[in-house]
Amino acid sequence: MLGRSLLNFVLLIVAVTCATAQHVPPWTEDCRKSTYPPSGPTYRGPVPWYTINLDLPPYKRWQELITEKAPALKVIVNSMKDVVNAFVPSGKIMQIVDQKLPGLLGNFPGPYEEEMKGISDITGIPLGEIISFNIFYEFFTICTSIITEDKKGHLLHGRNMDFGIFLGWNINNNTWVVTEELKPLTVNLDFQRNNKTVFKASSFAGYVGTLTGFKPGLFSLTLNERFSTSGGYMGVIEWILGKRDAMWIGFISRSVLENCTSYEEAKNILTKSKLLAPAYFILGGNKSGEGCVITRDRRKSLDVYELDSKQDRWYVVETNYDRWKNPFFLDDRRNAAKMCLNHTTQEKISLSTIYDVLSTKPVLNKLTVFTTLMDVTKGQFETYLRDCPDPCIGCATMPNKWARPLQIMK
Ligand SMILES: *[C@@H]1O[C@H](CO)[C@@H](O)[C@H](O)[C@H]1NC(C)=O
Ligand SMILES: *[C@@H]1O[C@H](CO)[C@@H](O)[C@H](O)[C@H]1NC(C)=O
Ligand SMILES: *[C@@H]1O[C@H](CO)[C@@H](O)[C@H](O)[C@H]1NC(C)=O
Ligand SMILES: *[C@@H]1O[C@H](CO)[C@@H](O)[C@H](O)[C@H]1NC(C)=O
Ligand SMILES: *[C@@H]1O[C@H](CO)[C@@H](O)[C@H](O)[C@H]1NC(C)=O
Repeated sequence: MLGRSLLNFVLLIVAVTCATAQHVPPWTEDCRKSTYPPSGPTYRGPVPWYTINLDLPPYKRWQELITEKAPALKVIVNSMKDVVNAFVPSGKIMQIVDQKLPGLLGNFPGPYEEEMKGISDITGIPLGEIISFNIFYEFFTICTSIITEDKKGHLLHGRNMDFGIFLGWNINNNTWVVTEELKPLTVNLDFQRNNKTVFKASSFAGYVGTLTGFKPGLFSLTLNERFSTSGGYMGVIEWILGKRDAMWIGFISRSVLENCTSYEEAKNILTKSKLLAPAYFILGGNKSGEGCVITRDRRKSLDVYELDSKQDRWYVVETNYDRWKNPFFLDDRRNAAKMCLNHTTQEKISLSTIYDVLSTKPVLNKLTVFTTLMDVTKGQFETYLRDCPDPCIGCATMPNKWARPLQIMK
C-alpha cells in the first residue's frame, strides 16, 4: 500500500489546501474546443529539437545538448538538494548521494552508465546527483496517456507529462517550483544512427531514459507511473543488495524504442521483462487494433487492455490508476479525459481534438509540463510546453499558512 497511499496522502494535502482556499474548487471545466494549433494562456511555447548521435560513444552523445542546458540542469538539481536538506538538515543525505550512491548502485547496463558519466563531467555535477536526477522519474511522474483509432483504423497517441508534486510551491505566481524548472529543460530528441532517425522522444535534458517517444512508421510508447503495493522502493533496495536482474522502467522504454522493430516485439518485451518499479506502458502500433495499456507489477503483467473495434473500444486512456479500480476521488483525470473523448466522437478524432482533451482541466493541471502528440504512420511528432493559469487544480490559490510548509524554495 505504501506507494498508492503515499500518492493519495500527497494529493490529499494538495486538495485540502486547495479546498481551504476556495469553497468550491474548480476541479473541472467543460471540454475545451479549438485549442489547436496551441496558443493563449495554456500554451507556454515550443520545444527545441536536438540530435543525439548513437554512432558516438555513449560518453560523448550528450555533449552538445548538455553544454547548452547545464545552467538549467544545475538549477533543478539544486532544488532537489534543497528539498532533501530541508527534510534532513544535516546535509548527510547529499553527502551519501555524492560519495556513496554510484558505488551502491554499481554499473547500469547498456549505454546508461557512460552517458550519465559524460553528463556529470560536462556539467561538473557529481555523478551521484546525476544518477538521482535519472532515478527521480521512476517515482512521482503523474501523467495522462491516450491512444485513439479513427473510423479508418488510423491511430493517434497523445500524452500530458505531469511532474513536480510536493517539491515546493511558489506563492508568488502559484506554480510548483520543479514543474517550472523542468520547462526550460524540456527537449525534443532525434536519436540517429547513420544520420537516420531511429526514434524520437520528448524528455528533460540530463535524463537518459525515455518516458515519451515513437519510432516513425512502427510504434509509439509512453510510460505512466503506477503507485502500487510493492512499489519501486523494494526494487531499488534489491538492486542495492546486488539483485540486478530487473530493468529500470525509464531505461527499458528507451531500449525498446532504440532496438525493437515492431509493435509485437515491443509489447512482448514490455509485458515480460522484470522491472524495478511497477508501471503502465501505453503502446501504439501502426495499424488498426494495435494500441494497449500494459499494467505491470515488478515481476509480471497484470493486464493488457487493447483497442477493439468490434467492441467499439476506439480509445484507451491511462492516468495513474489500475483500470479495474476507481481513481482517487480527488484526482479523476481519467473520467474527465474519457468524457471529453466521448464528446469528441470517433468521427472527429484527430491530433487537434486530442490536444483539446489534453487541454481540459483537470487533465491539464498545475503539474503539466508538456503535451505530446504522435502520429506514427504519418511520422508526426509534436510537443508543446504548457501552463495552467488560475483557477487550476494543484492548486489554484493556496493560502500562505498552508503554502509555507510546502514552500521550500522561494
Ligand atoms: C513563476 O515564477 C518562477 C520563478 O520566478 C518562474 O521561473 C516561472 O516561469 C513562473 N511561472 C509562471 C507560469 O509564471
Ligand atoms: C552524417 O552526415 C554528416 C554531414 O552531413 C557527414 O559528415 C557524416 O559523414 C555522415 N555520417 C554517416 C555515418 O553517414
Ligand atoms: C541497442 O542494441 C545495441 C546493439 O546490441 C546495444 O549496443 C545498445 O546498448 C542497445 N541500446 C539500448 C538503449 O539498450
Ligand atoms: C508496420 O509495422 C510492421 C512491423 O510491426 C512493419 O513490418 C510494417 O512495414 C509497418 N507498416 C508500415 C506501413 O510502415
Ligand atoms: C464513454 O462512453 C462509453 C461508451 O459509450 C461509456 O461506457 C462510458 O461510461 C463513457 N464514459 C464517460 C466518462 O462518459
